[in-house]
Amino acid sequence: IESDGSKHFSLTMKPGTSEFLPGKTTDTWGVNGSYLGPTIRVSRGDEVSFDVENKLGEISTLHWHGMMLPPVMDGGPHQMIEANDTWSPYWEIDQPAATTWYHPHLHGKTAQHVYQGIAGMFIIDDEDSEKLPSNYGVDDIPLIVQDKLFTSDGQFTMNEDSAYGTLGDEILVNGTYDPYLEVTASQVRFRLLNGSNARAYNFGFTDGRSFQVVGNDAGLLNEPVTLERIMLSPGERAEIVVQFEPGDETILRSYSRGAGIANGNFDILKINAASELTESTPISGQLSTVEPIEVPEDATLREFTLTLKNEINDKLMDMQRIDEVVPAGAKEIWVIHNYGSEHNFHIHDAAFRVLDVDGNEPEEYERGRKDTVYVPHGATVRLAVEFGNHTDLNYPLMYHCHLLKHEDEGMMGQFLLV
Ligand code: C2O
Ligand code: CU
Ligand code: CU
Repeated sequence: IESDGSKHFSLTMKPGTSEFLPGKTTDTWGVNGSYLGPTIRVSRGDEVSFDVENKLGEISTLHWHGMMLPPVMDGGPHQMIEANDTWSPYWEIDQPAATTWYHPHLHGKTAQHVYQGIAGMFIIDDEDSEKLPSNYGVDDIPLIVQDKLFTSDGQFTMNEDSAYGTLGDEILVNGTYDPYLEVTASQVRFRLLNGSNARAYNFGFTDGRSFQVVGNDAGLLNEPVTLERIMLSPGERAEIVVQFEPGDETILRSYSRGAGIANGNFDILKINAASELTESTPISGQLSTVEPIEVPEDATLREFTLTLKNEINDKLMDMQRIDEVVPAGAKEIWVIHNYGSEHNFHIHDAAFRVLDVDGNEPEEYERGRKDTVYVPHGATVRLAVEFGNHTDLNYPLMYHCHLLKHEDEGMMGQFLLV
């Protein structure tokens, strides 16, 4: 949605139908349209407000994933929107440039509501944004990647009995099946969002070309890092910049990383470069001017154990229980041990830097601001976490595994910012 200056946005969640597979109709949900929702783009310092109307015929919520905001505006499990009701959150955008997103978060129903199609991108700009291609739809392109299972008559179907939840065998990008893109610029920024329920992607290009990683989930990197593969687990984002020569043909593909959630090779997007391209100066040097997150020496340290029963610290989510109490604006060390299968870990109203994985420093391209992190089986991940600075004694925030089946089954805890 273009902002109209007032930074007020009207969103309606509603059912519809879409055609993904040629000649077949799929019942879907969408925001304002029939599948997915509009990209919202605002700048740091904007006062934004929303009317979120629920026309789904059942209760839901709309959560702003990656946003720093007052807890009551978060859209998590406690901010339920009854059928036919409208929820009107508002807050001031106060965080560095980032590619965030929105999706439902009704406890026990998140997997289904996201899978049906409620999700969209939410882009924040600041003065560092202009160092990168920023012409939306031309050289700044959102790629919401989701895997789906279809029935023979073209309906979405889920497989929630499996260990990780639904892993689809077809890919949709921005709600398009078998997508194709013609690029017209010599340098294109792709905002990759893994909007899948369970699958992880290991992105790369079939012609072996490298790309520059310029941003993690919650902000731009201080400097670009050249890479050939980048893995994103559910909920994670990355911004990459790719160089093209006129007439180039390539495919963005996901390359299997063995068994589990990153299993299987998938063509994600066919890309052709036009015979004439708009030239732009290659990016270089400093991107983000935001200092990396550092914690004080006496920082509080909290440990979270992900178990084989898909619990966190041997507990399942309880909407009535507060698991942690964190001072607003605190910087803490959170240590995540994964003694279970494959999981990741997301914290609301917070940004973090990965300190180490099993004692090893993360790769250079993983050292930026994040809000969701992959936690391999058997691994311990330490995070330097910076929390939002709005207190709320009534409404807790969530931390959880972002494999939506796990989350729905209770792999989630609640913390208050006080
Ligand atoms: Cu993407 Cu708690 O959510
Ligand atoms: Cu979130
Ligand atoms: Cu999990």
